[in-house]
Amino acid sequence: MNARAICAEAPVIPVIIVEDLTHAVPLAEALVAGGLRVLEVTLRSAVALEAIQAMKAAVPEAIVGAGTLRHARDLARVRAYGAAFGVSPGAPAALVEAIKADGLPFLPGCASATEAMSLADAGFDTLKFFPAEAAGGAPFLKSLASPLPDLAFCPTGGIGMGNAADYLRLPNVLCVGGSWVVPPAMMLAGDWAGIEALAREAVATLGPLR
Ligand code: 3PG
Repeated sequence: MNARAICAEAPVIPVIIVEDLTHAVPLAEALVAGGLRVLEVTLRSAVALEAIQAMKAAVPEAIVGAGTLRHARDLARVRAYGAAFGVSPGAPAALVEAIKADGLPFLPGCASATEAMSLADAGFDTLKFFPAEAAGGAPFLKSLASPLPDLAFCPTGGIGMGNAADYLRLPNVLCVGGSWVVPPAMMLAGDWAGIEALAREAVATLGPLR
């Protein structure tokens, strides 16, 4: 699956921080049961790589990727633990070169027209727009649709049920990313049914908009 096909799988990619490895599998099960099977586990905790591995092994329906890749060396790490795709908040040159050499499906981050055009020149047609709300929100992406029609986006950063529809109605938005479907308090409480309900709500409300 390439990055565009992965983004087409569900209207929301949960942006996940796993602090407790025992949360990984029940969390993935809850999100998949709620209809969200593309999961981004960010490299922001000590157990992130083990969480990716555990989710992948226990929940084969899930498409588990790694987020917050910052360095070229991160690619080999996430590959070793079986990540299906990668995501970065930006696109430093060394990381871009490494992704091109590796071939892992990838959403590099951009926040301007120039960055999007540079990534298109480097061969990427599906990009993360980050930080979406702070960098111009849905009006910014709407403005790119005509001059850069070959590019598709997964906006992330500041998105929730209140504004996700503004993005998903745009022709150049495939899905949105967000942490609102995985609230830390619910994870700490082991409220997997509550997280499943959040995922289900997102799919029911936002799925038809794409
Ligand atoms: C990301 O990594 O993409 C963001 O931290 C997620 O943003 P959110 O927490 O505002 O959804």
